[in-house]
Amino acid sequence: MSEIREVEKADMLTTAKPEVDVPAILSEGAYYILDDYALRAEMYAKVVTAFLDGVAQLESASCAKKVEEGGLGQLHKHFPVEKIHLLESFLHNRLRNDLYYWSYKVGRENLDLKGTFYLDHLIMLRIHYPFLVAREAGEVIDPPYPLTERLGLAISALKNWRLLGHYFKKRKDKKLAEKNKTIAYDAISYHGNLPVPARAHAAHVDTWYGHSYDGVNLWWSIQGVNEDNTVILYPDMFGQKVDYNPVSMYLAEGIPVTRPVKVAMKPGQLLVFNPETLHGTQVNISDETRVAITTRLNPHTPRFNSDAPFNFEHWYSSDDLAKKKFSKISVFPAKKHHGEPSIVERPAIKAERTVKIKCAGRLSADEAVEVCQAADLRAGEKMSVTLENAKVLLWRDGDEIRAYSRICPHLGVDLEDGYHDDAQIFCPGHGIAYALRDGSSKCAAFKLRQFKAYEEGGALYLQKNN
Ligand code: FES
Ligand SMILES: [Fe+2]
Repeated sequence: MSEIREVEKADMLTTAKPEVDVPAILSEGAYYILDDYALRAEMYAKVVTAFLDGVAQLESASCAKKVEEGGLGQLHKHFPVEKIHLLESFLHNRLRNDLYYWSYKVGRENLDLKGTFYLDHLIMLRIHYPFLVAREAGEVIDPPYPLTERLGLAISALKNWRLLGHYFKKRKDKKLAEKNKTIAYDAISYHGNLPVPARAHAAHVDTWYGHSYDGVNLWWSIQGVNEDNTVILYPDMFGQKVDYNPVSMYLAEGIPVTRPVKVAMKPGQLLVFNPETLHGTQVNISDETRVAITTRLNPHTPRFNSDAPFNFEHWYSSDDLAKKKFSKISVFPAKKHHGEPSIVERPAIKAERTVKIKCAGRLSADEAVEVCQAADLRAGEKMSVTLENAKVLLWRDGDEIRAYSRICPHLGVDLEDGYHDDAQIFCPGHGIAYALRDGSSKCAAFKLRQFKAYEEGGALYLQKNN
């Protein structure tokens, strides 16, 4: 029997004006989609206007007109993918103070945070083109680091000499770590050789990347957020301690991943979740551009995992944001503000619906290899067969046996520990769903390689197709 617990949708996810229970977000990984929240109409209109202004300035007024008519979800049809970072930077410069203030209002009015709380200096504008368009990107133009941002940090530093000292120390520490090669992360291991606009975020928890413990993420859907390109949550793994590979920053191998919740959102809906819930973003296999904005609140003084290669130490306090005072940035050095997660650890979920076997043979087109007794492959269970030269997934489909390569054609993650139901298996990397009937996905670029599999004399055989 499966140990995988079905999330009670009514408890965990609602679109009907929920009472946001922040303690439940922090201690149980509850999450919410809000329809109603502070400044919704005003902020949404500001974002759309800024978007169209950015497109007009960076491309042309006629392009902006087409985007306005088709909607932001159709941006990829009109606006060059190579200019995406310029557009993100334009939006960031135009909107960031409004976004800080808006996040403060949501924290105070909708999350009902009391006293002083904090808002991360980092705001992410997330514009993701459909994969088939993004993978064709030429050289992406990067904007200069925004002058206003630099100026803001410099002014904050001048007002706070300890902060200035901290910057120099961090720079020195980083250079030392680079010299001693103690920074392990490698972007190619994480993203492969894909062009920057085609990238997605593998399943992770934010503290791996130096974000604070006990945070609350605001993930705001602007347009085009559908189930084939959205944020993916793994709520059933909340509280489970999971290891990761510090070079690729992927989940370590051998950890079964539970049912992915792909949160499709209407324009303007706001997802509120705990970033210590395992989560990622789906590689965009839809035909819409995903436009989203994310910010982060901390109900208390931020604390960090000081083992992370870097930390996000710059924050605004709610007291300053209440007065729209954007020039004052508080810094919480991880060396001083560190600690352990406050979440009560939960036992790991067992992958009882997966049978794993190792087999001494080789997979070839010339001759079939016997892998196990046919009865070992039961309906509803997937079998992961590791041969000398191949990793294979077996599935019983009525009277037929289906056999596929376990290597995801996106970025090579092994499907062995992916969640499956009776029709599909989800890659634990970036969430692509593959049909167990034929190995196909919703995107022409991604299909599992299929092998020949059959029963004979009570045994199960595998062979490469010619
Ligand atoms: S979806 Fe990215 S590696 Fe499978
Ligand atoms: Fe994240």
